[in-house]
Amino acid sequence: MASFWDRKEKPYVVLLFLLPLLWMVISLLLGCYFPDPGKALMNLSGIWASVFIVAVLSLTPIARVKTFCVISRYRRFVGLTAFFYSLFHLLVYLILFAGLSVSWILSDLVQKPYIYAGVAATVILFLLAITSTKKMMKRLGRKWKKLHQLVYLAAVCVVAHLWLQVKSDIELAVWVTVFIAPLLLLRIYQNPRYKKYFKKIS
Ligand code: HEM
Repeated sequence: MASFWDRKEKPYVVLLFLLPLLWMVISLLLGCYFPDPGKALMNLSGIWASVFIVAVLSLTPIARVKTFCVISRYRRFVGLTAFFYSLFHLLVYLILFAGLSVSWILSDLVQKPYIYAGVAATVILFLLAITSTKKMMKRLGRKWKKLHQLVYLAAVCVVAHLWLQVKSDIELAVWVTVFIAPLLLLRIYQNPRYKKYFKKIS
C-alpha cells in the first residue's frame, strides 16, 4: 500500500475530518455554547469520537466489497481521528470540567464510574495510535493484528461508557449501540474460532 501522505486527496480528507473540530471552535467563539460551553463541547467531542469509532469498525466489512475496497487505505487515518476526538474530549474534561484540579477529578471518579470505561477506551485508542505506523507493523509482526483487534474492546468500553451514564435520555446510547453491536457480532461471526458455534446453532 502507498505510504500515508503520497496521495493527493489526503489533505482534503484531513480537512474533512477536522471540520467537526472547526465547527466546534467557531461555535464556541460565536458564543453558541454559552452559558455552559464545557457541557456542549464534552457532548459534541464525545459524539464525534463515537462517530469515528463506528466508522473505523465499518471500514473492514465495507472494504470487503470489491467496489469499495479503495476505502481501506483510510482505515489508519479514521482510527487516528477517533483517537484525536477522544483526546479532545479528555482535554475538555480535564480543563473545562475539572479545572485541572486533581482532588476534583478524584471525587468525580468516585461518583461517576462510567468515566473508567471512557478512560479504558481512550487508553486502547492511544495504544493503537502509537502502534499504527508501518515501522511498528513490521516490528510487531503477527502480534500487530491481534493488538489492533483491541479496537473492538474499545468499542465495547464506549458503549458501556454511554449506558452507565444515561439518566432519562437514552437516545444517544441507543444510536451508538445500534451501530456498534451489529459490527461486533459480524466480527465474532467471521472469526474462525467462533464459526463452529454458529454452525451448531444453525
Ligand atoms: C478519558 C476518557 C474519557 C472521559 C474522562 C470521559 C468523560 C465523560 C464525561 C464526564 C461525560 C459526561 C459529560 C456531561 O456531564 O455532560 C462524558 C460524556 C460522553 N462521552 Fe466520554 N469520556 C471519556 C472517553 C470517551 C470516549 C473514548 C468516547 C467515545 C469514543 C466518549 C463518548 C462520550 C459521549 C458520546 C458522551 C455524551 C453522552 C451524553 O450526552 O449522553 N467518551 N464523557
